[in-house]
Amino acid sequence: MPCNRHPFKSSAPAKIILLGEHAVVYGMPAIAAPIQSLRAYACAQPSDTMLSIRSVELEKSVAMDAPLPDDSARPMQQLLQIASGHFGVRKPTGNLVIRSDIPFAGGLGSGAAVSAAAIRALAALFGRGIPNEDLNQLVFEMEKIHHGTPSGIDNTVVVYERPVYFERGKDLELLTVERPCHIVIADTGRAAMTREAVGRVRQRYDERQSETEELFLRIGQVVSDARHALECGEQGRLGALMNENHRLLRQLGISSPELDELVDASIAAGAMGAKLSGGGMGGNMIALVDGSTVQAVRRALSLAGAVSVVDFVLN
Ligand code: MEV
Repeated sequence: MPCNRHPFKSSAPAKIILLGEHAVVYGMPAIAAPIQSLRAYACAQPSDTMLSIRSVELEKSVAMDAPLPDDSARPMQQLLQIASGHFGVRKPTGNLVIRSDIPFAGGLGSGAAVSAAAIRALAALFGRGIPNEDLNQLVFEMEKIHHGTPSGIDNTVVVYERPVYFERGKDLELLTVERPCHIVIADTGRAAMTREAVGRVRQRYDERQSETEELFLRIGQVVSDARHALECGEQGRLGALMNENHRLLRQLGISSPELDELVDASIAAGAMGAKLSGGGMGGNMIALVDGSTVQAVRRALSLAGAVSVVDFVLN
C-alpha cells in the first residue's frame, strides 16, 4: 500500500459465524469468532487536500464532498462522512487507502473489517482515540448501509477481535473456548451478497411466519447447546450441532448446491461437523477438524470444487 509520509495504519480481522446466522437477526443468539490471519487494512496519510478515500480492490477514489463517479463509491464516501461527523471534524483533510485480503461477498465480514480498520486509521489521523464501544456503533452504521438490517454480530466480532456469544440488544458476552477448535474454511467461489440472503429469509418469514419462527427457535437452541459444548471442550458434540445447524439453514432456504457439496465432502473426509457460514447462497462454509483429519478434509474440499481453502485455530 503506497503510504509513506507519516502514515496512520490500522487493520481488522475477518470473521466466521460459527453458529446461528440469520436467526440472530430475529433475536436468537449466535456465536462468531475472528480470523486473525485474514485481515483488512487501512492507511491514513495527512495532506492539505479534502479528505479522500481510495479502495485498492475496487480501484476507486472519492473525496468526502466531491460528486460521486458512480453509486458503488457511495458507501466509501459515507464512511468518511460518518467518521468525520463522529469526531466533529468540519473540514477534514488527508488521504485514506483501504485494502483487504478478505474475499468480498464471501460471508467473512469483509465490509465490517474494512470499516473498522478505516475508522481506526481516521481516528489516528484526526489525533483522536476511539474506544471499541464507539467504533462498534460506527461500524454498525456502515453495516446498515451495506446490508440493510444487520443484527450487529459482524461489527461486534470484528471490532472486539474475540469469540462472542451475541444476542441483539444484549450486553456483549465474550466466550471462553475450553479446547482450541481447528476450523477449515472453504470458498464455493460463488459471490453472495448478505443483503440478498437476509432479504430471502425475510420473504420466507413474511410468507410462512410460524414455520420460520419455529426454525429460528430450533437454531437458537442449537446455539445455546453449542456454547456449552465450546465452554466444556466437547468437540464431538459441537460438530454434531454444526451439522444440525446446517440442516436447519437448508430448510430456511439459504444453502446452495455448492455449499451442500462442500459440507458433505468435508464430513466424508472425517470432519466432526460442517455448515455454511455467514449469509449463505454461496460464499464460504466451515468444517470442524482435528490434527488427524485437517489435511484429508482440506484435500477433499479442493477436490469438491472449493476455490480456496484455509484453516485456523479458534481459541
Ligand atoms: C452475516 O454474517 C450474518 C447474518 O446473520 C446477518 C446478520 O446477522 O446481520 C446473515
